[in-house]
Amino acid sequence: MSWWRAGVLYQIYPRSFADSDGDGVGDLRGVIDRLDHLEWLGVDGIWLNPTMPSPNADWGYDVADYRSVHPELGTLADLEEMISEAGRRGIRVLLDLVPNHTSDRHAWFQDALTGPGARYRDYYVWADPRPDGSLPNNWQSTFGGPAWTLDERSGQYYLHNFLPAQPDLNWWSEEVREEFDGILRFWFERGVAGFRIDVCHAIVKDGELRDDPPAGPDDHPKIQDWGWRHVYSMNRPEVHDVLRRWRAVADPDRILVGETYVLELAQLFPFYGAGEDELHMAFNFLFVHADLDAAQLRPIVEGVEAGLPEASWPVYTGSNHDAGRFVTRWAGGDEAKARVALLMLLTLRGTPFLYYGDEIAMPDVPIPPDRVLDPVPEGRDGCRTPMQWTSAPGAGFTEAADTWLPLGDAGARNVADQRADPGSVLSLVRDVIALRRERADLHAGGYETLPAPAGAWAYRRGDGTVVALNLSDTQVTVDVAGTVLIATDRERDREPFDGSLPAWTGVVLDG
Ligand code: GLC
Repeated sequence: MSWWRAGVLYQIYPRSFADSDGDGVGDLRGVIDRLDHLEWLGVDGIWLNPTMPSPNADWGYDVADYRSVHPELGTLADLEEMISEAGRRGIRVLLDLVPNHTSDRHAWFQDALTGPGARYRDYYVWADPRPDGSLPNNWQSTFGGPAWTLDERSGQYYLHNFLPAQPDLNWWSEEVREEFDGILRFWFERGVAGFRIDVCHAIVKDGELRDDPPAGPDDHPKIQDWGWRHVYSMNRPEVHDVLRRWRAVADPDRILVGETYVLELAQLFPFYGAGEDELHMAFNFLFVHADLDAAQLRPIVEGVEAGLPEASWPVYTGSNHDAGRFVTRWAGGDEAKARVALLMLLTLRGTPFLYYGDEIAMPDVPIPPDRVLDPVPEGRDGCRTPMQWTSAPGAGFTEAADTWLPLGDAGARNVADQRADPGSVLSLVRDVIALRRERADLHAGGYETLPAPAGAWAYRRGDGTVVALNLSDTQVTVDVAGTVLIATDRERDREPFDGSLPAWTGVVLDG
């Protein structure tokens, strides 16, 4: 079985993992210094949020050079050393690739701005105003306001699905496609094991720039919030040509994980292509945005099991740098709930992605108004704060007096204290990962829903492993039997299971 199917992946926000040079900002050498933690935890791969040079209008998601490393994070040599040091510990490295848009500081866009005849003009999406002088169409930026900004010099508008400082690339251009083939190869040659692909579903736009239709009452609440169905501005079928092309560059052994921000399973599955010719994994945002409620999560998982192409592989995550930390969103800061969520993530059929700090049940950190850095009004800084390694000043993250985003309550939750405690969340996560590795049922076995009362969720993995979760405030009785391999409260480990699950507990059974 391939490493990424059997394994656990771990997302690192490099500015916030570990600061090796005392400037209050995390960096690649800091990641190297902390690889032992990841090896000890048992993860098989890491995905690093953007590492490329960027003016940071959107914190790395506005790339100014695709073949280099952001100086604040280190050098290309540091990245190569990180890849080899991680490799020595059996950990692969995925980078974040941002193909939907560049920074407005990227040399291509700077050239494109010189006029319609510019060498790189066609790398971006330009449109004339409508005859009445209004915007080319009704497309809205994901970050608010119209997706078009007027370039006064040429009188044309350029498209940006995000900030005006993030002009969208024109994926109808064969030259753009070739550039990115080259960028993929550049990093593969340096030992990168694959990419997480930003805004993967949206890169190709409607060739005729048709208006998006309005959201309707039956649409997912997120789509209703946006106000529009992204039928023409995103989600075009032609994206699959690009994904097949990238897959051909990645095969046989590099992987592609897409940020596939669609809110219906029927729209998610096509990103896997026929099964093994497009993405290896397509993030499931329906799952991310569901509540921690068996009645919501179980049907999503069953839908994946029923609908995903045979050769494809699911992926589940609770936290990321946009959606926030599940400990806050799903669990309201309640550690018992967080434990059940972790047991679920680590025992479903598919690859779990943990976000740094999930393993210590780190919650989102409240950000005072004068420390806000995120350009997006709803604010994503709270889930991007420094990792809490110790209870010392600087939390073991930095020697600096101040950090780029405020530290959370590292006294309450940190790696050092939890490592010393066999009953901690961190010990639970490590033990479940170890169990998952040693037990083929858990990393490779099939999924089958078992009967369970309302509020609970039980499933069999493979032939001989059962998971029972109580995602409710009341004690339930589940009709499954076996010896407890791991329980979220740890006191029941190795005991025969009597079917009773107190509120917000879960067990893995040999049965
Ligand atoms: C993706 C990233 C997010 C970024 C956006 C624009 O959604 O995950 O952080 O702001 O793309 O690049």
